[in-house]
Amino acid sequence: MTRPAPPESGHVVVTGVAGFIGSFLAEALLERGHEVVGIDAFTPYYSPRDKRANLARLRRRPGFFLVEEDLTTMDLDGWLGGASVVFHQAAQPGVRNSWGVDFSTYVANNVVATQRLLEGCVRAGVPRLIAASSSSVYGDAPTYPTTEEAVTRPVSPYGVTKLAAEHLCLAYAQPASSSMAVATLRYFTVYGPRQRPDMGFRRFLAAALEGRPIHVYGDGEQTRDFTYVADAVRANLLAMTAPIRADTVNVGGGRRVTVNQAIDMIGQVTGRRLRVEHRPALPGDARHTGADGTRAEVLLGYRPQTGLLEGLTAEAAWLADRRRPTRREVVG
Ligand code: NAD
Ligand code: UGA
Repeated sequence: MTRPAPPESGHVVVTGVAGFIGSFLAEALLERGHEVVGIDAFTPYYSPRDKRANLARLRRRPGFFLVEEDLTTMDLDGWLGGASVVFHQAAQPGVRNSWGVDFSTYVANNVVATQRLLEGCVRAGVPRLIAASSSSVYGDAPTYPTTEEAVTRPVSPYGVTKLAAEHLCLAYAQPASSSMAVATLRYFTVYGPRQRPDMGFRRFLAAALEGRPIHVYGDGEQTRDFTYVADAVRANLLAMTAPIRADTVNVGGGRRVTVNQAIDMIGQVTGRRLRVEHRPALPGDARHTGADGTRAEVLLGYRPQTGLLEGLTAEAAWLADRRRPTRREVVG
């Protein structure tokens, strides 16, 4: 692929641009008139073809520059120089898969990649970095809803790497290191169209649409503060101008529901009779997550806007649409 010439200044950078959240964020930034440099390595955690599809609306848009490189090795300076904001979404996600030999991938893509990006931002004099963190840093939190001051004790190796990445971001935001303003946004289980194929709702909806059983880990009474993807994107946009310095902020969906309740809604949304089978609870899963949204509201002016029924309806419609046979498949 021909490498586009980097914009000279004033652009924004989105790492992990071909992913679930990064692709929507880049679209929203372009809509608002920003030039966007998107970086992605198309890692094989899930199909790189799905990631290319995530970029369908972005690829031909003027003002969008795709850089297919790996943050752990690439030369970043040409892309970060002159950038006004860097949005760091790239990571190796997934709490339950982070045990065992694959941990080195989590360390590389979450810790090493973040540290290299931070060094590049400081060299280039980037004024603001907004980084994706995770509710998984809390583990089994002492209280719900959980404030940002709560003790962080992740229960998955993934959560440990996200916490390390968050601390790196905050360390590089100290005045002795740089004058960069940093916000680390702790997203709580994000869902919606383009959701990753390893995640709960995507699996439940696919099973419902295909008439297969839904596999629930444990009794289904675990709770999540499910957050619609457009809300997570809006939190990032608000953080572009908010008075941040070195801040950690919860980004939640506004309500905690059990997995069983969410599955009932999936039955409602798809109009299918669901077959639910229980599997053993898996290590790495926190029992509950729930965001205290006070800081997000005070610092960013963020409040979630999309309810679960509406969000699940949008994800179900997207999934049904992408499963519809193409004309070529129908004609043969
Ligand atoms: P995703 O896997 O869809 O997107 C991540 C993208 O980063 C992928 O396209 C991948 O190819 C890219 N990437 C990974 N390592 C890279 C590297 N070394 N160099 C360049 N690109 C690389 O994941 P997502 O669900 O969109 O998550 C985005 C961010 O939000 C991640 O930081 C994740 O930890 C965080 N997060 C997600 C959720 C959620 O529910 N989806 C919740 C909390 C936090
Ligand atoms: C999600 C993301 O995958 C992580 O990358 C992210 O960091 C994390 O949110 C977060 O909020 O920090 P998770 O909450 O496990 O992690 O999201 P889902 O995969 O959607 O799982 C939600 C719930 O459904 C969990 O309790 C899980 O055990 C359950 N589940 C999931 C099932 O019962 N069956 C499945 O097939 C999948």
